[in-house]
Amino acid sequence: MSVVFTEELAIEPTVDLKLFETITDNLANQGYSIHPNALPEPLLTQLHQHVHSMPDDYFKRAGIGREEQLMLNQFVRKDEVCWINGDSAAGQAWLDWTNQLQRYLNRHLFLGLFSFESHFAHYSPGDFYKTHKDAFKGESNRVVTIVVYLNPDWLKEDQGELVIYQDDSQQELVRVTPSFGTIVVFLSEDFPHEVLPATRDRYSIAGWFRVNSSGNNRVDPPR
Ligand code: OGA
Ligand code: MN
Repeated sequence: MSVVFTEELAIEPTVDLKLFETITDNLANQGYSIHPNALPEPLLTQLHQHVHSMPDDYFKRAGIGREEQLMLNQFVRKDEVCWINGDSAAGQAWLDWTNQLQRYLNRHLFLGLFSFESHFAHYSPGDFYKTHKDAFKGESNRVVTIVVYLNPDWLKEDQGELVIYQDDSQQELVRVTPSFGTIVVFLSEDFPHEVLPATRDRYSIAGWFRVNSSGNNRVDPPR
């Protein structure tokens, strides 16, 4: 008897293939995908506990532009961030899950995603991130953005929505409440977006799947 082993089966059973399929379809058809209550519950709980167990000084004022060396422009963004590496069990579980998504997207959309970078973000009450794009054609290798929210019991009056705009027009496409477990995915070059001020502390993870833009004699590490 021969054993049939497809790559599909190699995906861990904890991964919600239906979710990955919908994200893939939405990206192909409209360039963005929004899912309330979507991150697997154990991972969500782990990330939530981790973000609240971290000392405050792990979070640093966010910069603008690649490599974070550019101006800290308080008129553009006020949040603080902490980059995620595999040091914590929660961080590692997140990287494992996003890696499954990366492999799924590559297999079904042929995006050639090569690496992933992500950070926790903390917006204090009143903090914002003005309208921006995560990538500009030809200037960045960020291809797909993912955002996940870690705020239990978020109410509409808490505000802090993510507003996504149609490219090159001020037309609002969709407004996302940053509720616990909501996942937002979009093509990084295509959608200007902004974070509106909230009335309470707001926690999210923002991540970017990237293609490899290395030249022959240049390595291209994340960030
Ligand atoms: C970002 C971003 C959105 C959010 O960090 O680039 O747009 O809702 N975050 O936290
Ligand atoms: Mn952004």
